[in-house]
Amino acid sequence: MNNTDTVLITGASSGIGRELAKVFALHSYNLILVSRSTEKLRKLANQLMDEHKIRVDIIGQDLSKIGAAKKLFESVMDRNLEVDILVNNAGIGYVGLFNEMEVEKDIEMLQLNIITLTELTKLFSREMIKRKKGKILNLASTGSFVPGPFIATYYATKAYVLSFSKAIYKELKPYNIIVTTLCPGATKTNFAKAAGRENSSLAMEPNKVAKTAYIGLKNNKRVIIPGLANKILVRLPSNLVSNMVFKYQKKLAGKEK
Ligand SMILES: NC(=O)c1ccc[n+]([C@@H]2O[C@H](COP(=O)([O-])OP(=O)(O)OC[C@H]3O[C@@H](n4cnc5c(N)ncnc54)[C@H](OP(=O)(O)O)[C@@H]3O)[C@@H](O)[C@H]2O)c1
Repeated sequence: MNNTDTVLITGASSGIGRELAKVFALHSYNLILVSRSTEKLRKLANQLMDEHKIRVDIIGQDLSKIGAAKKLFESVMDRNLEVDILVNNAGIGYVGLFNEMEVEKDIEMLQLNIITLTELTKLFSREMIKRKKGKILNLASTGSFVPGPFIATYYATKAYVLSFSKAIYKELKPYNIIVTTLCPGATKTNFAKAAGRENSSLAMEPNKVAKTAYIGLKNNKRVIIPGLANKILVRLPSNLVSNMVFKYQKKLAGKEK
């Protein structure tokens, strides 16, 4: 990781992605920030360029649409930019009873959390292979380790991210490309608010998660689990945790009598 490198971060307009952008900027990396909220990205880009004298490009795009990854890749190529570090951070999670949830929500989660992430990893890793150098940080979750009743599709997407990323870590390492999976637990972001978790006493600050991720990435870690409580959580028996998730999410989904 050199400080002339360029980092592409999806979902950089808020939460963990925004904090990751700040950490990389602090270490003088150039940035490509992607999300749907162009105005938020522009404000952040101006702030980071002023403070750190780096180059920041912004790309406003909905990554839950079919073909979004290819479109984003082509935008980057058109600007003649090289991505040294790809951060697949954008993700969405809906809570609720699976059979009652609109299928469009399941599809949005599958498309953004799995398909776009997979396609971006493929497209950018091919470029990294040519240069024999690169890093990829994929956002999974402590939810990657257990089934999640009442948040089933989301947890399953994150199980995919962990399995997929750990597997390609082995494939890409000989090309000097490191694939790191970040597995945060509850973190105080818009995402956590939507999932009703921001008040959890265990919820971490997103800047702490981002700093831990940066250090782990620098040290070529395969999997990063920020926070002691989360490290313990993922080692508990899967059935026990899944039952805890069931009770907690059932209440949130308003299905508790
Ligand atoms: N917070 C937690 O408790 C927690 C725990 C474990 C894992 N995670 C994971 O951490 C990652 C970041 O989440 P966060 O907690 O930081 O949530 P957040 O504050 O809601 O941020 C999500 C980011 O993703 C972007 N995004 C959402 N849908 C998008 C779309 N269709 N196209 C492009 N960008 C999109 C959002 O930007 P726009 O709305 O501007 O598009 C935003 O920048 C996610 O992958 C999430 O699953 C979060």
